[in-house]
Amino acid sequence: MSLIMNSSFTLPCGQVIKNRVCKAAMTERIAKGNNLAHQGHINLYRKWAEGNIGILLTGNVMVDRKNMEGPANVVIDSQNYKDHIDELKNWSSVGTEDNTQLWMQISHAGRQTPGEINASPSAPSDVQLKIPGRSYGLPIPMSEEEILSVIDKFVFTAKIARETGFTGVQFHSAHGYLLSEFLSPDINTRNDAWGGSLENRARMHLEIIKKCRAEVGEDFPISMKLNSADFQKGGFNENESIEVAKMLEEAGLDLLEISGGTYEQPKLIGADHISINPDRSETRRESTIAREAYFLEYADNIRKAVTMPLMVTGGFRTKDGIENALQSNICQIVGVGRPLCADPYCIKKMMDGELEMLPSVEKTLSLGPWIFSAKSPIKLIQVINAFGAMAWCYQQIKRMAEDLMPDNNQKLFNALRKDTKADKQAFKDYLENN
Ligand SMILES: Cc1cc2nc3c(=O)[nH]c(=O)nc-3n(C[C@H](O)[C@H](O)[C@H](O)COP(=O)(O)O)c2cc1C
Repeated sequence: MSLIMNSSFTLPCGQVIKNRVCKAAMTERIAKGNNLAHQGHINLYRKWAEGNIGILLTGNVMVDRKNMEGPANVVIDSQNYKDHIDELKNWSSVGTEDNTQLWMQISHAGRQTPGEINASPSAPSDVQLKIPGRSYGLPIPMSEEEILSVIDKFVFTAKIARETGFTGVQFHSAHGYLLSEFLSPDINTRNDAWGGSLENRARMHLEIIKKCRAEVGEDFPISMKLNSADFQKGGFNENESIEVAKMLEEAGLDLLEISGGTYEQPKLIGADHISINPDRSETRRESTIAREAYFLEYADNIRKAVTMPLMVTGGFRTKDGIENALQSNICQIVGVGRPLCADPYCIKKMMDGELEMLPSVEKTLSLGPWIFSAKSPIKLIQVINAFGAMAWCYQQIKRMAEDLMPDNNQKLFNALRKDTKADKQAFKDYLENN
């Protein structure tokens, strides 16, 4: 029986996606201190492009080296773009093999920029992020001039993406980074044209799309990743997300990806039992948490308000889960992240009938049955598991960048240890170069 996930789909801009699965954006964190693309990105995306995936979304490529999500991010700006034009072209060349779409995710980290990179990050307002054990500086509220300059930076990076052979772009407005911060009333407390009403909070998004469209043309896919909600009291909520989706549709978006949460409420990876800010956490229903694709019901409500194509990411693991979501027509594309760190070819295997279930990174990482069987109330264990899972993914990404296959036997603690060491080195390299 033919699978919907293996059927093609045409975007409003006219581009055809060969199938309905997208590799979700996962920050690679492999650039050296100079933040340039290199052979590692090419090795990594070659593997994913061999895996019969419709769209490969890159990890967040930053528009400003002073406001990055991590020290080893790729940055494309007007100063450095010439220094890696060949590597970007080679990256797009391998990433578009076999009729695969390769889209660049473009981002600015705002107040979620690590303090080691910038002790005074740019953000809508001076609302500081406080996470135990991590340092985030007191943000400097952006002037209107700076806002306009950042809009131009997003558009510039999109232009370079197109010129170097990437076949689409996605603007990152989820997970608490800059564009998402502008939407959140508890983080954006401005009282000028860029704060207050929802129209004002979404102004930057609409400007970026309008200017980007004028720059890259009508036939180039433009996507955005949007929070269904921040899941924080006083934050960007579900009703507002639906209203923003309507504005984005009107602006001519080709694909809206639905996710949710921030560093304070990390629901994006389904970590519902962890909250950095528990007093202000908005909990999702247990039935939603238990659901395979935990943002699908939020997407359903957005679907009722718009007709543009939707993509849902987070938790898809089974063939039936993916097929049912597509069959329901709530979303036209499903995003898959962590399983592709365990096996870059798992989507191909599923489409070829070899797999019913994608590799579950979370399960692989059990610290030991005693922890889960005891339903331990010890939050630390849940935190270690969640961060361990992320570290494990980063380690597999690094292996693939070295042209190796993932090591599914790697232990959580080993991954955490290696990742912490790599992170330290990355900060050092960044500081030496800047
Ligand atoms: C290692 C790692 C890095 C990530 N980096 C990004 C990123 O750069 N941009 C983004 O929008 N989401 C990022 N995410 C979130 C994923 O895109 C996705 O929303 C999340 O992993 C849930 O999907 P999954 O259950 O299929 O993994 C990252 C997730 C992981 C595990």
